[in-house]
Amino acid sequence: PDLTAFAFGLPKAELHLHLEGTLEPELKFELAARNGIDLPEKTVEEVKATYNFTDLTSFLQVYYPAMRVLVTADDFHDLAWAYLQRAAEQGVVHVEMFFDPQAHTSRGVPFETLISGYRRAAVRAQDELGISAELILCFLRDFSAEYAMATLMEALPYKQWIVGVGLDSDERDNPPSKFAAVFARAKAEGFFLTMHCDIDQVGSIENIRQVIEEIGVDRIDHGTNIVENDALVELVKAKGLGLTTCPVSNSFVTEQMKSDEIVDLMHRGVRVMINSDDPAYFGAYVADNYVALAEQAGLGAADLAQLAINSFEASWLPAGRREAYV
Ligand code: HPA
Ligand code: ZN
Repeated sequence: PDLTAFAFGLPKAELHLHLEGTLEPELKFELAARNGIDLPEKTVEEVKATYNFTDLTSFLQVYYPAMRVLVTADDFHDLAWAYLQRAAEQGVVHVEMFFDPQAHTSRGVPFETLISGYRRAAVRAQDELGISAELILCFLRDFSAEYAMATLMEALPYKQWIVGVGLDSDERDNPPSKFAAVFARAKAEGFFLTMHCDIDQVGSIENIRQVIEEIGVDRIDHGTNIVENDALVELVKAKGLGLTTCPVSNSFVTEQMKSDEIVDLMHRGVRVMINSDDPAYFGAYVADNYVALAEQAGLGAADLAQLAINSFEASWLPAGRREAYV
């Protein structure tokens, strides 16, 4: 049996996907031309040559400047719609997509412009592709807690379009506790909560403890460093928290997929699942990540099916719909 075909055909939820991380070089050129923006790189190859990341910081230094080609609501729609069509080909039937409003509002794009473009693509995915698509608003952790709170206030009129809030960008010196008040308010407003606990960060274990005990998250993005700490593994299991792991992304920011850690956690009964993170930058969409992990760790169809089941169990689908998939 062909494991690649199985991985693509497996119905799955994607829970760790940054919309801004789906910007392929071809679309970047199209949007730049549309908006009269001059890019330093002239060919797709030249753009890809800048993707020589060695860690999270060097990735973010390429990632954020690229977003300036996104200006109008149509641009945001076209970005998300291109991703959703790729997702359909990869067996995705449900997706909870991160977006970084502050990466746009900080350069003058109105919140309403970006959210209305993204929302239009999400509705279209349901109608034309049969994919349920939700949005998760991420705060940038290297900006202030005050700016995050102001962004949350700006988002409240669009509450029906946003399933949860998250935290991304540079983790160093920006611990979860910095955003305790913002996340407490978001929880009171009815949002689900998640936060990035990136791979091999300084203070990773303490940050993971904070997201569980002080923030009270519903899920953890990455978080695989819990393997170092049996007590945290037990806590994550007891609370049924999902860990949204991203093998190919890991191999860019740490030179390893962390496949042993992911598989170990799965076999210990932790709700880990597989995601693509920033597929345009790491060259792998979600089914490609299933295949890469299977090859690296020698997994078979049963393990991949378990990972897909975990993706639905850790999702924020309403209870009745979640059960329909597992
Ligand atoms: N970590 C932190 N910030 C990010 C990531 C990530 O995995 N992807 C996009 N922004
Ligand atoms: Zn991420």
